[in-house]
Amino acid sequence: MKPFLFSGIQPSGEIHIGNYLGAIRNWVKLLDEYDPLFCIVDYHALTQPYDRDLLAQRTFDAALVNIAAGLDPERCRLFVQSHVPAHTELAWVFNTVTPMGDLSRMTQFKEKSQRAESESYINAGLFTYPVLQASDILLYKAQAVPVGEDQIQHIELTREIARKFNARYGETFPEPKQIVPKEGARILGLDGKAKMSKSLNNYVGLLEDSKSVWKKLGPAVTDPARVKRTDPGTPEICNIYSLHKSFSPPEDQQHVAEGCRTAGIGCVDCKKILHKNMMGVLEPIQEKAAALRAQPERVEEVLDRGARDCADLAERTMEEVRDRIGLRARR
Ligand code: TYM
Repeated sequence: MKPFLFSGIQPSGEIHIGNYLGAIRNWVKLLDEYDPLFCIVDYHALTQPYDRDLLAQRTFDAALVNIAAGLDPERCRLFVQSHVPAHTELAWVFNTVTPMGDLSRMTQFKEKSQRAESESYINAGLFTYPVLQASDILLYKAQAVPVGEDQIQHIELTREIARKFNARYGETFPEPKQIVPKEGARILGLDGKAKMSKSLNNYVGLLEDSKSVWKKLGPAVTDPARVKRTDPGTPEICNIYSLHKSFSPPEDQQHVAEGCRTAGIGCVDCKKILHKNMMGVLEPIQEKAAALRAQPERVEEVLDRGARDCADLAERTMEEVRDRIGLRARR
């Protein structure tokens, strides 16, 4: 039996190239090495302001895009978090072994609460978000968690929660390791400042067409030293170059790096080459997404099967947990 691998994505907006490079592309590479479980984490998405009327559709779309991007349903299980209620049940138990101090040190919590428009948006769910995430992973005793760099701290806390539970109740959960890609673990937004993110509107969506992507790449920030076309630049500090590293073949990377350093090419030329290579990756995904869109029942089937299988797996762990913590069994 292969060990379980678990990862999740929030249905909080369009899936973007940061999610693809930092997570999904890596997930696809790991399909055969592990027994992989992928989850659309809709309960997590409630922790920030969201449009209630769009949540169900976004959850479906997130599943569809992930399948189109390479999550072959024959080789993994894909499901919706709220379809397996044990996730929130275990999270409650974990709440009782997680120190508040650990949660208050979480960078994502600090960032999200700083950005919140008002105090009332800083809800308890946002605070205990990583506890639910730990429960997602440990419910299946998953050993590998492929994520982008921003999630490493949450996986460290997951290990801490496993240790705390094991210390109090006896060895139950393995400590999972994160798997972070060498290239693409932290994709910056097109503003070149903050991490690319659904909520900052600095992203390129996986399903955006060629025209729309070009419209976004046009004004995207490059090396500020290149004010004029004739000014040489430093590719290593340019965000467009870092995207070349994820999308372009080595010969194009070399060509643009050389051209940038010598002012042999301008930033627009460099962006045109990136645009071509990026669309070369996105277009096949978009074609598969369009085909799936025409057969929504295929996506529904995948999600049904995923929820059924995962509910069975989850129940096994919950029986063990209830026993360990000393709950009275129902007659
Ligand atoms: P979410 O939905 O923000 O992102 C999904 C995955 O995409 C990665 N990612 C990025 N990688 C590189 N550059 C970026 N700019 C970028 N933005 C996002 C994330 O690291 C993530 O791997 N808390 C998680 C969801 C979650 C989860 C889990 C993940 C819930 N339970 C259990 C793993 C295991 C999140 O908000 O991901």
